[in-house]
Amino acid sequence: MRTQSASSLKVRSIQAVVSATTVMEGAGMLVHRSFPTAALDMFDPFPLLDELGPKAFAPAEAPGFPDHPHRGFETVTYVLQGGMQHKDSRGHAGKLGPGDVQWMTAGSGIVHSEMPEEEFTERGGLLHGFQLWVNLPAKNKMMPPRYQEVAAAGIPAAVSEDGLVSVQVVAGGALGVRAVIDTVIPISYLHFTLQPGGSVVQPLPDGANAFAYVFQGAGRFGDAQTTVERGNVVLFGTQGEAVHLEAPVTSVEPLSLLLIAGRPIGEPVARYGPFVMNTREEIAQAMDDYRNGRMGAITI
Ligand code: FE2
Repeated sequence: MRTQSASSLKVRSIQAVVSATTVMEGAGMLVHRSFPTAALDMFDPFPLLDELGPKAFAPAEAPGFPDHPHRGFETVTYVLQGGMQHKDSRGHAGKLGPGDVQWMTAGSGIVHSEMPEEEFTERGGLLHGFQLWVNLPAKNKMMPPRYQEVAAAGIPAAVSEDGLVSVQVVAGGALGVRAVIDTVIPISYLHFTLQPGGSVVQPLPDGANAFAYVFQGAGRFGDAQTTVERGNVVLFGTQGEAVHLEAPVTSVEPLSLLLIAGRPIGEPVARYGPFVMNTREEIAQAMDDYRNGRMGAITI
């Protein structure tokens, strides 16, 4: 449901458009990385956004990410096609299918594996999903790890009155619905699909940094008349309370994107591989803790 006030909000202009880079991760996972790249180190409070695939795998071919640690931030996995399964050092295991979300707060430290789901691996098929990293403020970096797992049916969704815009609300709120996932700092994670001719004005949390990652079709943003195509990241400026998303009426396919926003943390960032801390000393401590087994091990 669109409110009257949404149309009177000042919409943000585009600050920059950055291309995602294509990399091969692990044993052959195709990844489109929005950041970190040479062009964009991070977008506070987000250290990383990866699009996994879309890539078709033959039976027994799909690669994964075996046991590895994390500390100091959150990983958010959102599967669109195919299946993933995970296990961790806290005895937790689960499977993610299309539309499912896992919001994992690594906090003080966890060791986990993220692999293609067994039946999916045997069968082969298309794998497509996302992983976002959400940084934690210094005071929350060493919080106890926690999981929030929500199946597709439990992710709130909404459709605009004209039927041209639909949204899956992973975090935050949109089109009158609120997310069920609780975030440590205020975050919006919205999966929008706009049919040709569809548009929406989406309010943002106060002071939030916001970006859109286009993964299907092309769209117009803010007051810009140029279109942004698949594989690009739109960084919005900070002036304004909302963003305007539009799928050109001449489009031949829907516009699909993630609109992600969060208030910048504004603290120093020291990162190394799977750790995101504030200082080099804390990174060294994390490596030492991991090597000496203080983040645990997967035993299930
Ligand atoms: Fe991980």
